[in-house]
Amino acid sequence: MSQQNWTVKDDIREYWSSRAETFDLSVGHEIFGDDERGAWHALIERHLGSGIGRKALDLASGTGVISRLLCEKGFSVTGLDFAEPMLERAKAKAKARGLDARYMEGDAEDTRLPDDAFDVIMTRHLVWTLPNPQAAFADWFRVLKPGGRVLIVDADMTARGFGARLLRRIAAFLKRFAPPAAMPGIDRERHNRILEQVHFSKGARAEDVAALLAAAGFENIVIDRVFAPIRKAQGRHMPLHQRIDRASQDRYAIQASKPENLTAEAVPPGRHAA
Ligand SMILES: C[S@@+](CC[C@H](N)C(=O)[O-])C[C@H]1O[C@@H](n2cnc3c(N)ncnc32)[C@H](O)[C@@H]1O
Repeated sequence: MSQQNWTVKDDIREYWSSRAETFDLSVGHEIFGDDERGAWHALIERHLGSGIGRKALDLASGTGVISRLLCEKGFSVTGLDFAEPMLERAKAKAKARGLDARYMEGDAEDTRLPDDAFDVIMTRHLVWTLPNPQAAFADWFRVLKPGGRVLIVDADMTARGFGARLLRRIAAFLKRFAPPAAMPGIDRERHNRILEQVHFSKGARAEDVAALLAAAGFENIVIDRVFAPIRKAQGRHMPLHQRIDRASQDRYAIQASKPENLTAEAVPPGRHAA
């Protein structure tokens, strides 16, 4: 591809492709204990309920960590990602574990999946890196069945309160004395260049994400910040400075529903009432 046609999305795809090999080595990506696994199951249960007989779409499925959780809750899972090396790993893991999960390459902002196809959509750590979340949310609204639910798990790493800033400074100070983290695959320069170009370049505040979901037609929007069980379980495998840094972040889940009945007023722009 010529440099002229190169977009921020190509940069994002390359960035994650280069991280696929080591992605599962990080706490916060792969799950390293039954306590953390149980905490994720509880989060899914309280927002999406049981998966028995229901279809889930795991958007930006990466190496399939969330897909596996959804399968364990009984969902039949489709994972979609645009980084081929991530998909390869997810497929191999699902096959080795005999999971009810299939994977496809696609863009989470324009999935090209059929209308009204899924009972639920779950996506972790995607929204902060979307150039056009408005387009993405309109597409997710379209592929959900009436009454279907979306569950977004993400974080605002730039929380601005005094406490958060203090914790970040303490974490940065302690990091100086910690052994260098073995995080191959992280290209800081590319990461920062991408961050400058995405919609939430100043941080993905939960309230801003919720407002965009409402504008796309979603209702019953709930922001859940009960992340202590997941954070504590992950913290057991993290150095102190990383635990403190994490505590400075605003980690959240947002649940939202597509209305059961689309009245003319509830139909988002570009769609038609059934
Ligand atoms: C931080 S990883 C999260 C992976 C997985 N959701 C998890 O939580 O383990 C981000 C993933 O989003 C994917 N991604 C980013 N933008 C995307 C897009 N527009 N369409 C599809 N996948 C995307 C990347 O390829 C990468 O696999």
